[in-house]
Amino acid sequence: LTVRAGSYADELVKTAKTIASPGRGILAMDESNATCGKRLASIGLENTEANRQAYRTLLVTVPGLGNYVSGAILFEETLYQSTTDGKKMVDVLVEQKIVPGIKVDKGLVPLAGSNDESWCQGLDGLASRSAAYYQQGARFAKWRTVVSIPNGPSALAVKEAAWGLARYAAISQDNGLVPIVEPEILLDGEHGIERTFEVAQKVWAEVFYYMAENNVMFEGILLKPSMVTPGAECKDRATPDQVAEYTLKLLQRRIPPAVPGIMASSLPTFTFLSGGQSEVEATQNLNAMNQSTNPWHVSFSYARALQNTCLKTWGGRPENVQAAQEALLIRAKANSLAQLGKYTG
Ligand code: 13P
Repeated sequence: LTVRAGSYADELVKTAKTIASPGRGILAMDESNATCGKRLASIGLENTEANRQAYRTLLVTVPGLGNYVSGAILFEETLYQSTTDGKKMVDVLVEQKIVPGIKVDKGLVPLAGSNDESWCQGLDGLASRSAAYYQQGARFAKWRTVVSIPNGPSALAVKEAAWGLARYAAISQDNGLVPIVEPEILLDGEHGIERTFEVAQKVWAEVFYYMAENNVMFEGILLKPSMVTPGAECKDRATPDQVAEYTLKLLQRRIPPAVPGIMASSLPTFTFLSGGQSEVEATQNLNAMNQSTNPWHVSFSYARALQNTCLKTWGGRPENVQAAQEALLIRAKANSLAQLGKYTG
């Protein structure tokens, strides 16, 4: 038997548990420079390093954020960046009791031989980059790959997505980073919820198959599924209870049985992405999952569903920073309550 994750095994489990603390979830603030540019353009700002720094400073310095947020995923630039006051962003997060994480994938490119689908780059040099990120204070990692329903998904695209995630997960663990395993099933399309469910089952089956083949240590990972919803253009909308029912059914069917001797608290942790749902929808759906009985830690790892109102409120104006920070805290608190199944808003 290959023993994985060597000297980091205990630390990986500890990091995963800290991130899974009750009533807390992840703030995804790891937009690549290109994506961050789109967000800044939406409020009329130029995509400069100074503007990205100002915005990320606003996010990490929200007073009390650590009560609701246990981890923050950063883009490489932010991991090495200081706030506008000259403190390392990473140090500010640690003072807030928030674990710093790092996006390690290099983005999506066309997958040759597929039906206009994508694959996720970033395995070359990943071990040395991961070691450097650990030195810099990162303790978990994220790799986002996508699967498109309207374009297939082809067997090739699913296999590539699953294999890439499994290789990344093994490399992250070897370097002390807890991997967030994120095969996003894109919302785009007119398909109904049943079709999403079917595709999600296929994708997760392959992800676990290849993670086992790569000797990934299951107690030291975080899983980031997309919720099982109808396609964004589907006429039949689903209620939060339906989304919760399908999504929990997916987890029940696809998560491997607990390894003997592992306690309930070591069961897998799920931190869902918001994927273009509205802020309130993402909160309601998370809440519905936590109102049903489930044995897992089911939480959030939202970017847009935490940041949208905050970004708009800020609008790039220093005089709006406090109001924008309050807006982020409102979403973070709502999702914290949803993690506990106690959201009523
Ligand atoms: P959204 O919540 O905006 O989907 O982003 C989360 C994320 O990290 C996507 O990779």
